Amino acid sequence: MFDDVAPKYDVVNDVLSLGQTRRWRKVVVEAMGVSAGQRVLDLAAGTGTSSEPYADAGINVIACDFSLGMLKVGKRRRPDIDFIAGDATRLPFADNTFDASTISFGLRNVNEPKKALAEMLRVTKPGGRLVIAEFSQPVVPLWRTMYTEYLMRALPAIAVKVSSNPDAYVYLAESIRAWPDQDHLAAWLQEAGWETVTYRNLSGGIVAVHRAQKPADPSTGPAAGAAALAAHTGPVAKLRRNITRPGR
Ligand SMILES: C[S@@+](CC[C@H](N)C(=O)[O-])C[C@H]1O[C@@H](n2cnc3c(N)ncnc32)[C@H](O)[C@@H]1O
Repeated sequence: MFDDVAPKYDVVNDVLSLGQTRRWRKVVVEAMGVSAGQRVLDLAAGTGTSSEPYADAGINVIACDFSLGMLKVGKRRRPDIDFIAGDATRLPFADNTFDASTISFGLRNVNEPKKALAEMLRVTKPGGRLVIAEFSQPVVPLWRTMYTEYLMRALPAIAVKVSSNPDAYVYLAESIRAWPDQDHLAAWLQEAGWETVTYRNLSGGIVAVHRAQKPADPSTGPAAGAAALAAHTGPVAKLRRNITRPGR
């Protein structure tokens, strides 16, 4: 399905989110708090739009996805980014490889999302951060009703006009409705072994950005990231060059 939508994926996203995706992506990058020279995994990176801000900031970002169609479009657009083919439930990376990991609008699409959370924990360094951006549940009931109407009626109708594969957007609407809410996803993160789980609602909860940290290796003492997370005073709602086919 993602191979089919790849060529127009980014344009359609902008239209259907009424231009909000850019703002959401900015919040994700800020939540990651990574700096030049660090190594970041952007999982389910698709065409690499979510990876671009890291590359632009001199961060060593690996854009990983299992759709070769998406990766090809991304590689054509951003030859400077390393795109790697890989399955989120069986990542082709060694333990403790990345300073931080992130997944934007992808976890919901993974067949076994809990496995992906465990895999991201494995490949992230002790004390490293995870940031997830995903569609979620609007908090205010009236807003939730309006949004559900948009999802189930308007979005498929607009998709017929702007996308080559409108069925993909019917799937999108249904998958968003079936996806766990903010607290539920926060609980999954904790179950997977992530610590200091928090989340922030964007656009009234249409999107939630979850942030968490991999437990620090006891032999190395508290990770620097722990202090940064504890000090976070933003509007966190509450506890919640070639495309390579790796051998593994
Ligand atoms: C909606 S796109 C998000 C792309 C990008 N992160 C963004 O923000 O625009 C979701 C992506 O998840 C990828 N995906 C779904 N299941 C996957 C899996 N098991 N392993 C790797 N990628 C997966 C799809 O191929 C698709 O490119």
